[in-house]
Amino acid sequence: MPYYFYSACTVNDLPVGGRLRVAVEGYPVCLYNVEGTYFASTDSCPHERVSLGDGGTLDGATITCGAHRWSFDVRTGECHNNPGHKLRLFPVGRKGDEIFVGFWVNEGDGEEPRADP
Ligand code: FES
Repeated sequence: MPYYFYSACTVNDLPVGGRLRVAVEGYPVCLYNVEGTYFASTDSCPHERVSLGDGGTLDGATITCGAHRWSFDVRTGECHNNPGHKLRLFPVGRKGDEIFVGFWVNEGDGEEPRADP
């Protein structure tokens, strides 16, 4: 099933080692720059839905939630503290200086992005 890619930010907004909370088509997304490679996840921590972009800290490829310190690998979504939980990831694209986040078709229409295609 195809993705729609939506503009999220520019490379200047997201330096190496940075994380950025953005609204993509109204949906809160957190973007990460891990040594020049961009990743994206839902902004909501799987534990109690606290924003990762507002209170989290990025160390390498690990985002740690500021609320209760759960941490996730932004490359895989795996949770380091609680393996039964996973951070939802989105594909990321880049064209020139612009960074795009991909949602499955219908996700950009105000619906909650689906967990499965
Ligand atoms: S809300 Fe993120 S660890 Fe609790």
